[in-house]
Amino acid sequence: MRVALLTGGGDCPGLNAVIRAVARKSFARDYELVGALEGWRGMIEGNFKPLGPAEVSGILHRGGTIIGTSRTNPYKVEGGVENLREKFAAAGLDALVAIGGEDTLGVAAKLYDEFQFPVVGVPKTIDNDLSGTDYTFGFDTAVSIATEAIDRLHTTAESHNRVLVVEIMGRHAGWLTVHSGIAGGADAILIPEQKTTVEEVCAHLKKRWDSGKKFAIVAVSEGYELTFQSGESEMVAKDAPATDQFGHVLLGGVGAALSKEIEKRAGYETRSVVLGHTQRGGTPTARDRVLATRYGLKAADLVHEGAFGQMAALRGDDIVGVSLHEATAELKTVPQEWFETAKAAIGWL
Ligand code: F6P
Repeated sequence: MRVALLTGGGDCPGLNAVIRAVARKSFARDYELVGALEGWRGMIEGNFKPLGPAEVSGILHRGGTIIGTSRTNPYKVEGGVENLREKFAAAGLDALVAIGGEDTLGVAAKLYDEFQFPVVGVPKTIDNDLSGTDYTFGFDTAVSIATEAIDRLHTTAESHNRVLVVEIMGRHAGWLTVHSGIAGGADAILIPEQKTTVEEVCAHLKKRWDSGKKFAIVAVSEGYELTFQSGESEMVAKDAPATDQFGHVLLGGVGAALSKEIEKRAGYETRSVVLGHTQRGGTPTARDRVLATRYGLKAADLVHEGAFGQMAALRGDDIVGVSLHEATAELKTVPQEWFETAKAAIGWL
């Protein structure tokens, strides 16, 4: 068999661990492997790179992706889907392992539904917003990075009696903010799923000051809408209304906007920090390396079994196959119970 691999969407720690695991199992079966370079773009252009034992050696701990990535959507490129299918056939390929989030795997699900395209998926994203799996790989690393940042911000906030607002990635899901906010002991957690008002935050900070703690960390998701008691709300998006090929607005800036509001309304000196792509860079945690490896081994097995249209998923402690269609049907956002847990954990009741 000749198997292609692609990594699509935002990069994330653990991509190379998946590639290595798929390769190890495929080589043991005498399958050939190629990487489609830069996500779906490589598939459309037929830009394939042979991957042998030498190419996949020494990459387990490396962040990023050795085969590149992009946010190319074949359904938004003229002739994209036709070209992709032609190049796939011309290269004598039998199967594709698509490693990506809702966008990349959404395309994979559509290709499978429309053409029975021989594709299996692996759930990647620091945002952890894919349905069908308990956790995506990359999330644990990003949570660790954000937690470490919150730890560091504590000491400087305390020294200066300041509020430090930390803006955390996650797009329309607050998973990263909830987990790193709990782990780092933030004092307020603001996520897109909850209409928490600026006034509520200020009142909570005031209570903290009154109790003698004259510093605070506010963890805010980049997708949180600045919301006011009056009912007014504002999505602070950098280049709105510009969108990528999947229709996403480039988020960023809510931390700075919130910081100004807090300073103005509560009167405490406030600074803001955007963690941004730091959360996606560098080496994966041990947990992500193990999860990514298990996903890769499962994806290779799904290919071997001809179980196309499936995605490797974590359910409890088991790695199973689930339908790509099911996994991409809707975004997995933070439910109310998780937010309540976060609030109880940080003493914001
Ligand atoms: O989906 C992963 C993610 O890092 C989001 O959390 C973030 O909103 C987005 O990608 C940033 O995208 P880009 O890398 O295109 O700036």
